[in-house]
Amino acid sequence: MGFNWTAQLQKALERRYGLEPRLRDETQIGRYFAGRADGLDGVIVDAFGALVVLTIYNPAIVADAEQFLKGTQNLFGAGRFVIGKIRSSGGGFLYLDPCGVLGKKWIAQEDDCLFETRADDKNDFGLFPDARAARLALRPLVAPESVVLNLFSYTCGFAVVAQKQGAKASINVDANPEMLTWGKRNADLNGVDFSVVPELAQKYLARLERRVEEGKLVCPDIWVCDPPAFGVGRGPQRVLKHFWDAFWGSVERLSPRALVILRNDRTGYREGHTLARELDALLGGSYDLRGCSFADCPSLCYEVPDAFYKLNESLVLLRR
Ligand SMILES: C[S@@+](CC[C@H](N)C(=O)[O-])C[C@H]1O[C@@H](n2cnc3c(N)ncnc32)[C@H](O)[C@@H]1O
Repeated sequence: MGFNWTAQLQKALERRYGLEPRLRDETQIGRYFAGRADGLDGVIVDAFGALVVLTIYNPAIVADAEQFLKGTQNLFGAGRFVIGKIRSSGGGFLYLDPCGVLGKKWIAQEDDCLFETRADDKNDFGLFPDARAARLALRPLVAPESVVLNLFSYTCGFAVVAQKQGAKASINVDANPEMLTWGKRNADLNGVDFSVVPELAQKYLARLERRVEEGKLVCPDIWVCDPPAFGVGRGPQRVLKHFWDAFWGSVERLSPRALVILRNDRTGYREGHTLARELDALLGGSYDLRGCSFADCPSLCYEVPDAFYKLNESLVLLRR
């Protein structure tokens, strides 16, 4: 291996600790190495409290994965458990588990919110660290009477934040009931509660529109929407790029007060075709658009695009 991974990771950790001191705390959830921005394309290190995940997307590094794992383990120390998530040539991921922790659970925290993190080779680890800017952006939108709709909720991270912030209620919609059970565990850990709906987001939105129209439901005032590029369902339903047309139709008709939008599936944004520009054209001036500020999470503010990994684009929309 020609590349000195340990030295590069050490440098990244020191930079992180300077930028965002909370990351020194071994219980925190965060991103510690961010691909090209830290000097190596397609390599990500995230920590979820005791669990540390080294993800390798770059095929040129795969052969050295074991050594990268050892170097990562040495730097993080004996109290942490490092697993490898390696992109395989077939498109899936292969997991390396030198500490034998797959299947184990821990409690970790992001800021003042607790999350159950799991070494799970099917459902990831319980929170996506790169969405922290969006979770922080949600906080000031929440008012005591707020009802937050969290679409594609996964383990209900946004709802935990909303309820801790004092929202009246949150509704989490996810197609996978297991994720919602995990989300309820997160609610318990934080002493809050919210509702969960195991359903396709597309179906839920259609039903919400009907019920609001019939006067049976008050429309949630804040919507969070964070779909994966490919969801569950068949044909066009699986390709969530097609979901957005229906979504913006519902936004137009129901007109929520505020939205937090995360997108992982757009191309061309690096050439100036930004999400803000796209939505400005689409929404015809009915919403003010704001980027999620990275001021409070400078460790995630990496401008240099990685060759293998794309950071989500996130925006806050406020009804005019
Ligand atoms: C990218 S994660 C969402 C991340 C999440 N918002 C968070 O805060 O961590 C993807 C989630 O979307 C769910 N999902 C996929 N397709 C779906 C669909 N059509 N409707 C609802 N949920 C879906 C998956 O079960 C998974 O939990």
